[in-house]
Amino acid sequence: MSKKNIYEPLDMPRRVILGPGPSSANPRVLRAMSLPIVGYLDPAFFDLLEKVSGMLNEIFLTNQMSFAVAGSGSAGMEAGLVSLAEPGDKVIICSYGYFCERQIIMAKRLGLNVIPIRTEWGKSFDPQVLLDTLKSHTDTKLVLGIHAETSTGTINPIKEMAKISHDFGSLFMTDVVTSLAGSELQFDEWEIDYAYSGSQKCLAAPPGISPVAMSTKALEYIRNRKTLPSSWYLDLSLIWDYWSENHIAHHTAPVSMIYGLREAAALTLNEGLFERWERHKVNASALRAGLKALNLDLPISKSDRLDQLTVINLPKDIDDVKLRSKILEQYSIEVGRGLGDFAGKVIRIGLMGESCYPPNVLYILQALENIIPQFGIEISEGNAVNAASDEYSKNGIKKFYE
Ligand SMILES: Cc1ncc(COP(=O)(O)O)c(C=O)c1O
Repeated sequence: MSKKNIYEPLDMPRRVILGPGPSSANPRVLRAMSLPIVGYLDPAFFDLLEKVSGMLNEIFLTNQMSFAVAGSGSAGMEAGLVSLAEPGDKVIICSYGYFCERQIIMAKRLGLNVIPIRTEWGKSFDPQVLLDTLKSHTDTKLVLGIHAETSTGTINPIKEMAKISHDFGSLFMTDVVTSLAGSELQFDEWEIDYAYSGSQKCLAAPPGISPVAMSTKALEYIRNRKTLPSSWYLDLSLIWDYWSENHIAHHTAPVSMIYGLREAAALTLNEGLFERWERHKVNASALRAGLKALNLDLPISKSDRLDQLTVINLPKDIDDVKLRSKILEQYSIEVGRGLGDFAGKVIRIGLMGESCYPPNVLYILQALENIIPQFGIEISEGNAVNAASDEYSKNGIKKFYE
């Protein structure tokens, strides 16, 4: 008999994940994911789907439809594009970052007639540009705009963009992969037709499932379109038919991911939506106070920047790859690199969901304080951590971990 290899149980390094996502998963989420598997057509699982849908409604702030697409945030993106427009339809994509460009690539592959509106990276989108474009493309079927552009760290005025789109009779689809549960988002109030997110950012679950919300108008559109969506798997009306009360069989649902999503939604609602948005704000302001003390420059203006992701300009003597590997090797902290136009020029620090707590803020500041001098740049030690602690005190934070 040949000799058998014995494989030890898998082990992975412990990281402090402060990149653009995934962020850490809450232990309660991981525990829920180890519960026994039930069938995806088991009545107990149908009951869970209905409960998760209701909880997601509370998080998206909608009374319409919330459910989840099996796959990462990009699956939610592709599901929207394949379901909400037909080949040849005119689709406006507002582009101000790397993930907007991904939407353009996908839309072109699906044969949509894409009208890109490209504006400067690192600045929030100006809705007036959409208004002007729609005036000369009144036959537009669908408009896309990303709420939180993770590549540039900007927040964008999707409420205004949705309103303008509707004034011209177009549907409005948005990406809330980085914003859901981390920034204010009001699906019904802002009259959004479709929003997709990811489990791995401010919701604090592992990557792999895309929570989405859809308007009744969008569902009616899919049910009445001339041709069927070219993807059966990502047809939002079929996915909704499975999640909603008739529970019509579709693909085998990712049972354990849905357990995890339930737990992540429960934790979000237990904390309170507003309180969670505030937590992201307070930690971002402490991080920025510390970065300022390190003389690091933030390229995104105050009014345009996200709380859950801070973009930092690299001083000219600091090499991006070397800096990130020192941070990883010496502190086991992951931070993000620049993408697209920002590649090599910035690093990105994410404070999302389970990663967004004071110990992580103080730890990354301590790491930067120790590592920056290794590039021959002088800084005053202890200033960054003190500046962040002072900022926490100003915001009434006395306890650094709950
Ligand atoms: C704004 C935005 N959209 C889309 C995506 C793609 O999501 P995923 O990597 O989960 O497919 C990301 C991922 O970071 C993102 O930040």
